[in-house]
Amino acid sequence: MTSVLEPALRSPAADPDAALRRDAAHVLFSNWTGAATVPSRTLYPHQWSWDSAFIAIGLRHLSPRRAQRELETLLGAQWGDGRVPHIVFNRSVPLDAYFPSPDFWRSSSAGAACGAPADIETSGIVQPPVHALAAWKVHLADPAESRRRGFLRRMYPRLAAWHRWLASSRDLGGGGLTAIVHPWEPGLDNSPVWDTALARIEPAPPASFRRADLDHSAAADRPTDLDYGRYVRLAATYRDHGYDDAVTPHAFALEDPGFNALLIASEHALADIAEEAGADPAPHRERAAAATTALVARLWSAESGVFLARDLVTGEAVRTYSVSGLTPLIVPGLPDDVVRALVGTAHGEHFGLGRAHLVPSYDLTGPVFDANRYWRGPSWFNTAWLVHRGLALHGQAEAADRLRAQVLADARATGFAEYVEPWSGQGRGIRRFSWTAALALDLLRQPGDTRDAGFPRRNGQGEPRR
Ligand code: SER
Repeated sequence: MTSVLEPALRSPAADPDAALRRDAAHVLFSNWTGAATVPSRTLYPHQWSWDSAFIAIGLRHLSPRRAQRELETLLGAQWGDGRVPHIVFNRSVPLDAYFPSPDFWRSSSAGAACGAPADIETSGIVQPPVHALAAWKVHLADPAESRRRGFLRRMYPRLAAWHRWLASSRDLGGGGLTAIVHPWEPGLDNSPVWDTALARIEPAPPASFRRADLDHSAAADRPTDLDYGRYVRLAATYRDHGYDDAVTPHAFALEDPGFNALLIASEHALADIAEEAGADPAPHRERAAAATTALVARLWSAESGVFLARDLVTGEAVRTYSVSGLTPLIVPGLPDDVVRALVGTAHGEHFGLGRAHLVPSYDLTGPVFDANRYWRGPSWFNTAWLVHRGLALHGQAEAADRLRAQVLADARATGFAEYVEPWSGQGRGIRRFSWTAALALDLLRQPGDTRDAGFPRRNGQGEPRR
């Protein structure tokens, strides 16, 4: 029955969007530590880099000031060489709450030559650079307050140093793209994309470490012990070479399309930030354009209709369908034939867009598809948000809107699950996961907002200057 009340007069309980907004806000506020937001109080009890960027994108709708703080805290742990570590440890959390703990990474001593902070412990690897994109969106949420606090003026040099480090120290292939040196760096921990490259790595002995993740999540949903042995070996090797890419013998090095696409989207945002901060945006626009050319030249597969990771040790493309091969849809200025093919692939048998829940992390028809195990099949909310943005950017309004509605419905139905089984939509992993709440919040139409909250424009970063 249609309500006779004007929308503004309905009680929040009668308005499912208002209830979702309230519940999402509750998740974010209860995961706030005073300076940043934990992805989860149990599984991930510190600050994570790309989580914080996604969290800030949602938090800006509740408190632009707190969203600024989220990013300031993360960038406050930046290393002297420009890297933004993937974890910033909270020293009040017991060592055994998360593995690998600060005494494994030993950043302040092992990373000292690369400029690791002396007074904060961090990991030594990185995660996708969503930060400039997030900072620009946070600024737009309240430009007056942002200017008053000098938010972008303070963020700009740090974000520029971060991007410079990625484009220089991490251009291991020499072709204008950034390489990842650990499966946790692209954020898709145990994706089948890494299987062949990881098989080359001698695992650390199982008795040499104790996993903490299995205390909080089902073993059948998480990476295996063998995977963990290899994660530990790779991180320890990097650490034992001072986290210095010039001297570490990287046995695992790949160019990942999702990671590079996020860098390009963030480089566009950095140009906007530069302009706002009184710096020259042109070099950022030029780098974004050059990286877009390199992304298409090095990682696009017309035959597969998707972007493929490149293994820098063998020089071969990894012929595996992963959501990371679709997320370059967020890049403005992709050639039209690439966009058309990507949209077709998203809707096809490998990802089942519109039929499966959200966007499966790995090929639905793939030989090792597992509907429950972390990044080997399940659908995640952050990658769905990215694909949604990409579809909208490239004029696929109907598909984008369907995906937006699904994100909201699945977030609501699962209590903000970490990820979902792609056929049933059942929640997997932990609940009350911060980026699920944040990104649902971002896709809800905000009170008093007349624009479509998630819809970017094709010629820019997608939000009107206000
Ligand atoms: N996601 C990885 C973990 O499980 C690394 O951040 O710890």
